[in-house]
Amino acid sequence: MKTLFLLLLFCHVSSTVKHSLKLFLTATSGVPNFPEFVAFAMVDEVQVGYCDSNIKTPEPKQGWVRDFMNDNPQHMEWYIQRCSISHHFFRANIDGLKQRLNQTEGAHILQRMNGCEWDDETGEVFGFNQYGYDGEDFIALDLQTLTWTTPRQQAFTTKLRWDADKAKLEFNKYYYIHYCPDWLKKYVHYGRSFLQRTELPSVSLLQKTPSSPVSCHATGFYPDRAMMYWRKDGEEHHEDVDHGEILPNHDGSFQISVDLNLSSVAPEDWRRYDCVFHLSGVEDHIVTKLDKAQIRTNWVSPSEFPAGGVTGVVVALLLLLVLCITGLFIWRKNNNGFRPANTK
Ligand SMILES: *[C@@H]1O[C@H](CO)[C@@H](O)[C@H](O)[C@H]1NC(C)=O
Ligand SMILES: *[C@@H]1O[C@H](CO)[C@@H](O)[C@H](O)[C@H]1NC(C)=O
Repeated sequence: MKTLFLLLLFCHVSSTVKHSLKLFLTATSGVPNFPEFVAFAMVDEVQVGYCDSNIKTPEPKQGWVRDFMNDNPQHMEWYIQRCSISHHFFRANIDGLKQRLNQTEGAHILQRMNGCEWDDETGEVFGFNQYGYDGEDFIALDLQTLTWTTPRQQAFTTKLRWDADKAKLEFNKYYYIHYCPDWLKKYVHYGRSFLQRTELPSVSLLQKTPSSPVSCHATGFYPDRAMMYWRKDGEEHHEDVDHGEILPNHDGSFQISVDLNLSSVAPEDWRRYDCVFHLSGVEDHIVTKLDKAQIRTNWVSPSEFPAGGVTGVVVALLLLLVLCITGLFIWRKNNNGFRPANTK
């Protein structure tokens, strides 16, 4: 959790000049009721597009992206083709892998994260393309040497085959050095009033049961460069505190929670605590005093309302489901690997 907090601090102090375009592609096999291929695109950590093997035609996810695609129909056409080509490519690869690894049954997942970053101050660009299989790093493109690298012996056959495909490597190089950053610059320019806005969150205090930690929850902020922490007597307080990660909301804004375990704090000392939210680039902080009367909870004492327990379980299950779905798609910033995000 310490590293996470440092990471938040780092995000906070780093400037707003880095932009990114990331594509997340996922093929599954043996997962019922889930499209066998799903892809989505993010610009500056906001989802801008989606396609899957059922809908086939990519869907813009923000108003400005829809306008951009209407203005650039040939670019939209490119995404329509990529969705279909990638679907077939992923399907062939997951089938090939299952066969080669003797995996005749069970659920399998092949993922790719690729894209580019552009520093609008230095002009530096950086491309990446890496695959994960069944939740672990599988193979990645090294753009310096223009070869595929892998930590896994299972991927060695793939590496040899892909290293031999010089045309594809050259396409990759062109894509990551020119095509991707050029389009990223156009997207950022076009969407700047949306991407460079700031939005403050609503902050609430939440608690599952009277003995649970109190969660300070901020939702609806933008961009994802924010800090939240608890204070005691006006000083930053890190003891018995659990920092959550910044998570995306469906509308392109973000949320975060920081939990404070109060089990060893006397009730009369609660008023010494407050929770501070700070959005990078915005001077004002949002300070929320720890006030018992302001805490929101779904908890109903069993003696008051016997169905409360059932409601609680349903809410907990729904929450778990949301966390799992979010977790599946969160790219771990702190170790850049295909490991499931920490959803606690
Ligand atoms: C797959 O199964 C075949 C036959 O059962 C065996 O010869 C081969 O070594 C297995 N391959 C792997 C990667 O386990
Ligand atoms: C809160 O702290 C107490 C002891 O100080 C500990 O027993 C309890 O497990 C903690 N609760 C959580 C949810 O971490």
